[in-house]
Order: sequence, then C-alpha cells, then structure tokens
Amino acid sequence: MTPGSSTLSIPEHGSVPKHLAIIMDGNGRWATKRYLPRTAGHVRGVQAVRRVVEECGKRGVKYLTLFAFSSENWRRPADEVNMLMRLFMQTLEKQVGKLKDQGVRLRVIGDISAFEPRLQSLILEAHESTKHNNEMHLTIAANYGGRWDILQAMQKALINHPELASNPEQLNETILSPYLSMAFAPEPDLFIRTGGEQRISNFLIWQLAYTELIFFDDYWPDFGTKQLDQAFSWFSTRERRFGRTSEQLTNS
Ligand code: IPE
Ligand code: IPE
Ligand code: MG
Repeated sequence: MTPGSSTLSIPEHGSVPKHLAIIMDGNGRWATKRYLPRTAGHVRGVQAVRRVVEECGKRGVKYLTLFAFSSENWRRPADEVNMLMRLFMQTLEKQVGKLKDQGVRLRVIGDISAFEPRLQSLILEAHESTKHNNEMHLTIAANYGGRWDILQAMQKALINHPELASNPEQLNETILSPYLSMAFAPEPDLFIRTGGEQRISNFLIWQLAYTELIFFDDYWPDFGTKQLDQAFSWFSTRERRFGRTSEQLTNS
C-alpha cells in the first residue's frame, strides 16, 4: 500500500513533520575553513547524523531521509569517493546494531549495484536485521538521483503492466508510485538543506512536490538541536494549502 499522495489527496498537517528529508551539505567547506582535509568534514558529518537521528527520534519524527551520496557525486576526485565509501562501510559496521536495538528500521535507497560487493552486503544485512523495527524509519539515499528513481519506477511499472505499452494513457500516479524508492513512506513534510545552497541537486524530485523547504547557512557538521528546533518551529507556522485558498482552510 502506498501512503497518501499530496496531489491525489490532502495530507494531514501537524506541528512536527512526520517525514523529514535532509540534504546534508557543507562537510567539505566546514573542513576547508579549518585548514583540514575535506575528509575530516565527512567524519564530523557522520557525528551530526547520529545527533540528528537521536533528536528526531525524541521529537517523534517517524521517517527521516538523508541524502548521503548523489548519483552525480561520482564526479568527485577518486580519493574522496573512496574515502566516502570506506566511511559508509565503517558507519554501517558500527551503527547498525545500535539502530536495531533502538527500534530503527534502516533502508538505503539508490542504485546500490554500483557499490563494491562488501558495501552491498552490509546494506542488505542492515535491511534484513532491522526489517521488523517500526519506531522510526531511517533512510539513507546513496548513489541516489531523483531522475534515476523515476526512470527505474517507470521501467518496473512497464514490466509489471505490459498493457501500458499499447495504452499509455492508462499510466497514472497510482500505477507508478508503488515502484518509487520511497513508496513505503508518506511524502516529506519538511525538507532541510544545510550549507547555504538553495537547490534540490536531484534529490527526491517526485516526492518533494508539496514539501515545505527550509535552507540553513550552517555547514552540516554544525547542524544540531538548535537548528532542528528552528526548522520545526518554522514548519509549525506554515499554512499548507495544497492548491486550496487560505479562506478554504479557515472555514473548514
Ligand atoms: C555533503 O558535503 C556530503 C556529500 C556530498 C557526500 P559536501 O562534500 O558537498 O561539502 P561541500 O558542499 O563541498 O562543502
Ligand atoms: C548534494 O550535495 C548531495 C549530498 C548532500 C549527498 P552536493 O554538494 O553534491 O550538491 P551540489 O553539487 O552542490 O549541487
Ligand atoms: Mg556540497
């Protein structure tokens, strides 16, 4: 079952986002500012992830989705890419047991077939060992791209509905959305990007259709409780109209 879609129905609006999606940006600049190698920023970035997972758990966020490595990040120098892969493996090795005990269900979305076999197995083991958890759903987007996601969903929809090839007008959101990587979750209510850039960088382009967007100048390693509180209190003041007028909301 696919949870509600913001274009097919009107999602509920609470003061805490049910689903928070974050582009964790600025690790490299955090390090460079301190005359450290960029990799030092990525290491500090992992500490920020642990902090934010814990704080979101306390605040009752049910779904937390973090962009860790984009399908375009392969364009970076090989040394940095290799270090990011090693860091990803070390983090899975160290953290999955704890996440499992805390009731967190961990998923990795993205084209994991491009990763080395050891990393692929760690990801599959993490999926398997946390699959019965339901306290919080933590999703890491790795080798993920929003366009890749839509295309892979289209391919699966066509395989499972061969009749669409001769009746393309039958293709609709309800048919397509179960094949998207985030089909298990409601669409993000709140999106945060750190690091000062105001762009989506090929993150969840389908799912962010009606998400509230907030941008922080802070670099990701500096992100914590203070910024999270700021984002949540801003979110609670948003009027989410989903196409309707303000008057319709106050009269309903
Ligand atoms: C985000 O930080 C982490 C990844 C993309 C892996 P960056 O590495 O993009 O940091 P900046 O943007 O260069 O400072
Ligand atoms: C987006 O950050 C991807 C991640 C945080 C994983 P980038 O730093 O790669 O984005 P651009 O290149 O500045 O748009
Ligand atoms: Mg960046």
